[in-house]
Amino acid sequence: MTDNLTIVDHPLIQHKLTILRNKETPTAHFRQVLREVAILLGCEATKDLPLADVTIDTPLETIQSPYLEGKKICFVSILRAGNGLLDGLLDLIPSARVGHVGMYRDHDTLEAIRYYYRTPDELDGRQVIMVDPMLATGNTAIAAATELKKSGAKSLKFMCLVAAPEGVQAFNKVHPDVPVISAALDRQLNERGYILPGLGDAGDRIYGTK
Ligand code: URA
Repeated sequence: MTDNLTIVDHPLIQHKLTILRNKETPTAHFRQVLREVAILLGCEATKDLPLADVTIDTPLETIQSPYLEGKKICFVSILRAGNGLLDGLLDLIPSARVGHVGMYRDHDTLEAIRYYYRTPDELDGRQVIMVDPMLATGNTAIAAATELKKSGAKSLKFMCLVAAPEGVQAFNKVHPDVPVISAALDRQLNERGYILPGLGDAGDRIYGTK
């Protein structure tokens, strides 16, 4: 649909996504599997991190070997469901800095309302990866990316689990420079802004709320 959308079509991701979509999956299992998917998606989201050779001694020889060049990473969780992906990403890169953006959807207008915003300094020098499992209308992700750019973010990506065509299109229109990485592109939104077939309310599924 757009050059900026990457669907990570890996058997493990698709298998785990099926578990997440299943309404019978209990909360603890949902949380664990989401964490695992985040690690797999995180590999795609970080695949262009720069490497530089360093000299090391193996037990047998001295070699030049690739090592992350030190590009600083910042994960930004869009509260509250973003935290479900954040946990896995921190398993992958424990040294990453973390920002939080609190947005809620006004249930009538579906507009994103900001209630919390805290990020590390010097976002301009970092690879910033914002995370939210569901890219639905796109309003929240669009607003979060706009705020992060205002804070200096220049190298920004958005990682989600399930995207709706409407959300991808809206996001791409406002932020064509921000790549979107997702496990799936679903059919459509319903009249309440839920993704079909989707997996329901990601926050409720992660935290066992209703
Ligand atoms: N947010 C969710 O958690 N689920 C959807 O389907 C849409 C938005």
